[in-house]
Amino acid sequence: MTTNILKQGALAALALAACMAWTSQSAWAHGDVVPQSVDTTTLPQLGPKWLDNNPYSAGPANKEALRIGSSAYNQNCARCHGLEAISGGISPDLRKLDADCMGLADMAKKQACFAEINEYYVSTTRRGRTRDGRVYMPPFEGILTQEAIWAIKTYLETRREP
Ligand code: HEC
Repeated sequence: MTTNILKQGALAALALAACMAWTSQSAWAHGDVVPQSVDTTTLPQLGPKWLDNNPYSAGPANKEALRIGSSAYNQNCARCHGLEAISGGISPDLRKLDADCMGLADMAKKQACFAEINEYYVSTTRRGRTRDGRVYMPPFEGILTQEAIWAIKTYLETRREP
Protein backbone atom coordinates (compact mmCIF):
# COMPACT_ATOMS: atom_id res chain seq x y z
CA MET A 1 0.00 0.00 0.00
CA THR A 2 2.64 2.50 1.06
CA THR A 3 4.80 1.64 -1.91
CA ASN A 4 1.77 2.06 -4.14
CA ILE A 5 1.17 5.56 -2.84
CA LEU A 6 4.86 6.33 -3.19
CA LYS A 7 4.78 5.05 -6.74
CA GLN A 8 1.76 7.13 -7.52
CA GLY A 9 3.42 10.16 -6.05
CA ALA A 10 6.52 9.57 -8.09
CA LEU A 11 4.47 9.12 -11.23
CA ALA A 12 2.57 12.32 -10.58
CA ALA A 13 5.84 14.16 -10.02
CA LEU A 14 7.19 12.75 -13.27
CA ALA A 15 4.07 13.73 -15.16
CA LEU A 16 4.27 17.23 -13.72
CA ALA A 17 7.94 17.54 -14.64
CA ALA A 18 7.25 16.34 -18.16
CA CYS A 19 4.39 18.76 -18.45
CA MET A 20 6.52 21.67 -17.25
CA ALA A 21 9.31 20.72 -19.62
CA TRP A 22 6.81 20.65 -22.44
CA THR A 23 5.34 24.01 -21.48
CA SER A 24 8.67 25.75 -21.20
CA GLN A 25 9.73 24.22 -24.50
CA SER A 26 6.55 25.22 -26.25
CA ALA A 27 7.00 28.76 -24.99
CA TRP A 28 10.19 28.88 -27.01
CA ALA A 29 8.91 26.86 -29.92
CA HIS A 30 8.64 29.81 -32.28
CA GLY A 31 12.24 29.41 -33.38
CA ASP A 32 15.58 28.23 -32.18
CA VAL A 33 16.70 29.42 -28.79
CA VAL A 34 20.34 29.85 -29.79
CA PRO A 35 20.88 32.84 -32.09
CA GLN A 36 21.54 31.63 -35.61
CA SER A 37 23.95 33.24 -38.02
CA VAL A 38 22.55 33.77 -41.47
CA ASP A 39 24.13 33.30 -44.89
CA THR A 40 24.00 36.69 -46.59
CA THR A 41 26.59 36.13 -49.32
CA THR A 42 23.93 36.33 -52.07
CA LEU A 43 23.12 39.94 -51.11
CA PRO A 44 25.01 43.07 -52.22
CA GLN A 45 27.71 43.43 -49.54
CA LEU A 46 27.62 46.62 -47.49
CA GLY A 47 31.07 46.87 -45.92
CA PRO A 48 31.89 47.59 -42.29
CA LYS A 49 30.29 51.04 -42.00
CA TRP A 50 26.71 50.88 -40.72
CA LEU A 51 24.28 52.54 -43.12
CA ASP A 52 21.54 54.96 -42.02
CA ASN A 53 18.89 53.47 -44.23
CA ASN A 54 17.80 50.09 -45.50
CA PRO A 55 19.62 49.54 -48.81
CA TYR A 56 17.29 46.64 -49.69
CA SER A 57 13.97 48.45 -49.19
CA ALA A 58 13.67 48.91 -52.93
CA GLY A 59 15.65 47.87 -55.97
CA PRO A 60 16.91 44.58 -57.40
CA ALA A 61 18.12 43.11 -54.09
CA ASN A 62 14.69 43.49 -52.47
CA LYS A 63 13.42 40.00 -53.27
CA GLU A 64 16.51 38.16 -52.07
CA ALA A 65 16.63 40.33 -48.92
CA LEU A 66 13.02 39.40 -48.24
CA ARG A 67 13.75 35.69 -48.65
CA ILE A 68 16.73 35.85 -46.28
CA GLY A 69 15.07 38.29 -43.91
CA SER A 70 11.93 36.25 -43.33
CA SER A 71 13.95 33.14 -42.53
CA ALA A 72 16.40 35.08 -40.35
CA TYR A 73 13.47 36.65 -38.51
CA ASN A 74 11.93 33.24 -37.86
CA GLN A 75 15.21 31.84 -36.58
CA ASN A 76 16.22 34.74 -34.38
CA CYS A 77 13.34 37.02 -33.49
CA ALA A 78 10.03 35.16 -33.78
CA ARG A 79 10.36 33.32 -30.48
CA CYS A 80 9.95 36.64 -28.68
CA HIS A 81 8.40 39.00 -31.21
CA GLY A 82 5.95 36.42 -32.60
CA LEU A 83 5.44 34.50 -35.80
CA GLU A 84 4.94 36.86 -38.75
CA ALA A 85 5.90 39.69 -36.37
CA ILE A 86 2.55 39.48 -34.60
CA SER A 87 3.52 39.90 -30.98
CA GLY A 88 1.81 37.88 -28.29
CA GLY A 89 2.04 40.95 -26.10
CA ILE A 90 5.22 40.41 -24.09
CA SER A 91 7.69 41.84 -26.60
CA PRO A 92 6.97 44.90 -28.76
CA ASP A 93 4.97 44.32 -31.95
CA LEU A 94 7.52 45.05 -34.67
CA ARG A 95 4.81 45.62 -37.30
CA LYS A 96 4.30 48.97 -35.58
CA LEU A 97 7.97 49.95 -35.63
CA ASP A 98 7.67 52.69 -38.24
CA ALA A 99 3.90 53.12 -38.16
CA ASP A 100 4.21 56.77 -37.13
CA CYS A 101 6.40 57.55 -40.14
CA MET A 102 4.01 55.93 -42.60
CA GLY A 103 1.31 58.48 -41.82
CA LEU A 104 3.49 61.54 -42.55
CA ALA A 105 2.53 63.40 -45.74
CA ASP A 106 5.62 65.63 -45.92
CA MET A 107 8.32 63.60 -47.76
CA ALA A 108 11.25 65.26 -45.99
CA LYS A 109 9.71 64.63 -42.59
CA LYS A 110 8.89 61.07 -43.58
CA GLN A 111 12.50 60.38 -44.61
CA ALA A 112 13.82 61.90 -41.38
CA CYS A 113 11.38 59.75 -39.43
CA PHE A 114 12.49 56.56 -41.21
CA ALA A 115 16.15 57.44 -40.60
CA GLU A 116 15.46 57.86 -36.88
CA ILE A 117 13.58 54.56 -36.65
CA ASN A 118 16.27 52.76 -38.64
CA GLU A 119 18.95 54.00 -36.27
CA TYR A 120 16.85 52.85 -33.32
CA TYR A 121 16.20 49.47 -34.98
CA VAL A 122 19.87 48.85 -35.83
CA SER A 123 21.20 49.88 -32.44
CA THR A 124 18.58 47.80 -30.59
CA THR A 125 19.28 44.73 -32.70
CA ARG A 126 23.06 45.06 -32.41
CA ARG A 127 23.13 45.73 -28.66
CA GLY A 128 19.99 43.99 -27.47
CA ARG A 129 18.21 45.23 -24.36
CA THR A 130 19.36 44.91 -20.78
CA ARG A 131 17.58 46.68 -17.95
CA ASP A 132 18.46 46.37 -14.27
CA GLY A 133 20.91 43.60 -15.17
CA ARG A 134 18.19 41.52 -16.84
CA VAL A 135 18.60 40.60 -20.50
CA TYR A 136 15.28 41.29 -22.19
CA MET A 137 16.75 40.83 -25.64
CA PRO A 138 20.18 39.37 -26.50
CA PRO A 139 22.64 41.39 -28.59
CA PHE A 140 23.03 40.24 -32.20
CA GLU A 141 26.29 42.05 -32.92
CA GLY A 142 28.78 39.46 -34.19
CA ILE A 143 26.01 36.93 -34.89
CA LEU A 144 24.09 38.75 -37.60
CA THR A 145 25.87 40.70 -40.31
CA GLN A 146 24.77 44.18 -41.30
CA GLU A 147 23.29 42.53 -44.42
CA ALA A 148 21.20 40.15 -42.26
CA ILE A 149 19.96 42.95 -40.00
CA TRP A 150 18.75 45.00 -43.00
CA ALA A 151 17.26 41.87 -44.57
CA ILE A 152 15.18 41.37 -41.40
CA LYS A 153 14.12 45.03 -41.62
CA THR A 154 13.09 44.41 -45.25
CA TYR A 155 10.91 41.57 -44.05
CA LEU A 156 9.42 43.72 -41.26
CA GLU A 157 8.58 46.43 -43.82
CA THR A 158 6.29 43.93 -45.56
CA ARG A 159 4.59 43.20 -42.24
CA ARG A 160 3.62 46.81 -41.50
CA GLU A 161 0.03 47.26 -40.54
CA PRO A 162 -1.97 49.22 -43.10
C1 HEC B 1 14.68 36.86 -25.92
C2 HEC B 1 13.61 37.59 -26.54
C3 HEC B 1 13.94 38.48 -27.73
C4 HEC B 1 14.57 38.13 -28.90
C5 HEC B 1 15.13 36.79 -29.30
C6 HEC B 1 14.55 39.33 -29.72
N1 HEC B 1 13.96 40.35 -29.04
FE1 HEC B 1 13.72 42.26 -29.70
N2 HEC B 1 12.96 42.81 -27.89
C7 HEC B 1 12.65 41.95 -26.87
C8 HEC B 1 12.06 42.69 -25.77
C9 HEC B 1 11.56 42.09 -24.47
C10 HEC B 1 12.04 44.04 -26.17
C11 HEC B 1 11.57 45.23 -25.32
C12 HEC B 1 12.74 45.57 -24.42
C13 HEC B 1 12.42 46.62 -23.41
O1 HEC B 1 11.25 46.74 -23.03
O2 HEC B 1 13.36 47.29 -23.02
C14 HEC B 1 12.60 44.08 -27.52
C15 HEC B 1 12.71 45.23 -28.28
C16 HEC B 1 13.06 45.24 -29.62
C17 HEC B 1 13.03 46.43 -30.47
C18 HEC B 1 12.55 47.80 -30.04
C19 HEC B 1 11.07 47.84 -30.34
C20 HEC B 1 10.31 49.00 -29.83
O3 HEC B 1 9.14 49.17 -30.28
O4 HEC B 1 10.79 49.77 -29.00
C21 HEC B 1 13.45 46.04 -31.71
C22 HEC B 1 13.60 46.93 -32.94
C23 HEC B 1 13.74 44.63 -31.63
N3 HEC B 1 13.50 44.18 -30.35
C24 HEC B 1 14.17 43.88 -32.70
C25 HEC B 1 14.52 42.51 -32.62
C26 HEC B 1 15.04 41.76 -33.74
C27 HEC B 1 15.25 42.30 -35.15
C28 HEC B 1 15.29 40.50 -33.26
C29 HEC B 1 15.89 39.33 -34.00
C30 HEC B 1 17.12 39.56 -34.72
C31 HEC B 1 14.93 40.48 -31.85
N4 HEC B 1 14.45 41.72 -31.51
C32 HEC B 1 15.05 39.38 -31.01
C33 HEC B 1 12.88 40.60 -26.85
C34 HEC B 1 13.56 39.88 -27.83
